[in-house]
Amino acid sequence: MANPASAAGAVPRVSPFAASRGLADDVVEAFLAVRSETERRAKPLTPEDQMVQSMPDASPVKWHRAHTTWFWEQFLLARHSPGYVGFHPDYAFLFNSYYVSAGPRHARAERGLLTRPGAEEITAYRRHVDAAVVRFLKEADDDALAEMMPLIEAGLNHEQQHQELMLTDILHAFAQNPIAPAYDTSWPFSGPHTGSGWITLNQGIHTIGHQGDSFHFDNEKPAHRVLVGPVKLARGLVTNADWLAFMDDGGYRDATLWLMDGFAAATSEAWEAPAYWRRKDDGWQVMTLGGLRPLDPNAPVRHVSYYEADAFARWSGKHLPTEMEWEVAARAGHLDDAFGVAWQWTRSAYAPYPGYRASRDTLGEYNGKFMVNQFVLRGSSLATPARHSRVSYRNFFYPHQRWQFTGLRLADYGV
Ligand SMILES: [Fe+2]
Repeated sequence: MANPASAAGAVPRVSPFAASRGLADDVVEAFLAVRSETERRAKPLTPEDQMVQSMPDASPVKWHRAHTTWFWEQFLLARHSPGYVGFHPDYAFLFNSYYVSAGPRHARAERGLLTRPGAEEITAYRRHVDAAVVRFLKEADDDALAEMMPLIEAGLNHEQQHQELMLTDILHAFAQNPIAPAYDTSWPFSGPHTGSGWITLNQGIHTIGHQGDSFHFDNEKPAHRVLVGPVKLARGLVTNADWLAFMDDGGYRDATLWLMDGFAAATSEAWEAPAYWRRKDDGWQVMTLGGLRPLDPNAPVRHVSYYEADAFARWSGKHLPTEMEWEVAARAGHLDDAFGVAWQWTRSAYAPYPGYRASRDTLGEYNGKFMVNQFVLRGSSLATPARHSRVSYRNFFYPHQRWQFTGLRLADYGV
């Protein structure tokens, strides 16, 4: 089933702001919508659920709720709202993530040790900052607001990124629990049943990257021309059935299929299947946000690392696409399930586009300093918030990581 967002000309809307009313009204509405979505995602979770940190890469939900609030306090209120009184003097230290220029911060791997402040205090923190932001936005004149729009949109998009992490992180935590708790019993754990066949990109020069002034992260620019093709890309995503065939053929045990670092990771971590798969007497089950469910062979595979995706592609006699090939095909509307199902690994290293330079202000730490040793994923996942997908969006993770909703599609150069 094709996600409508993958069709040409139907790229998701990137700016939540319309010109129909005063700018302040639109900004306040967008701000409150994003803030309430964070709380909606946290609502099914108890204070104990919200505190757990099941590995250093995952953060407690309580921390995500507080850190996204700190972002508004640190970058908007403290800098632009004279007279703003902070909620608590310790919170800048506790809830800064990685912004060195914003000051010292609590150790990332120890976020799960914070029994205090409790979830209720974080709710109060969020309300304090929400009220101050709304008051500030309503009192700002349109010129000042227009000038702050890049910062405000960065804050909204930053919080949406954490909304996805809240779900991936709590799934990892619940997957460590022998009673396999469900976050949401109606969570869509199986479909969609992805398309088949191949599309061909003939050799050509194309422009990729974000064009225009609508919101984007700095890593999506500069737009630039690339030579792509000839290559075929799979119309659909690799499925669980495809992955079972790889497993049954000894894919996890055959070192000739793997990168050296990948085989070392697979061995030391004792990988024999994607993350969250559980072998039962009557077949495989999968830990999902809806609890433990039978494996749907026709659904796209998720929770595989770059190392596994690369080994699978080699076993298939195919390749992973580059991010340039992915974007050209997605812009042409050729890809099924490009968005809203699983982030798709590409074989492109996460590197700056030609001419990219991170800005030297604090927000310049957002993307640029991570441009080493990671790989680009394209599309979006079923946990990505609405209106947070773009055809030029570049997600990135380390090649061993697999707790995100990560899958793949194949490329074939035997055109
Ligand atoms: Fe953050």
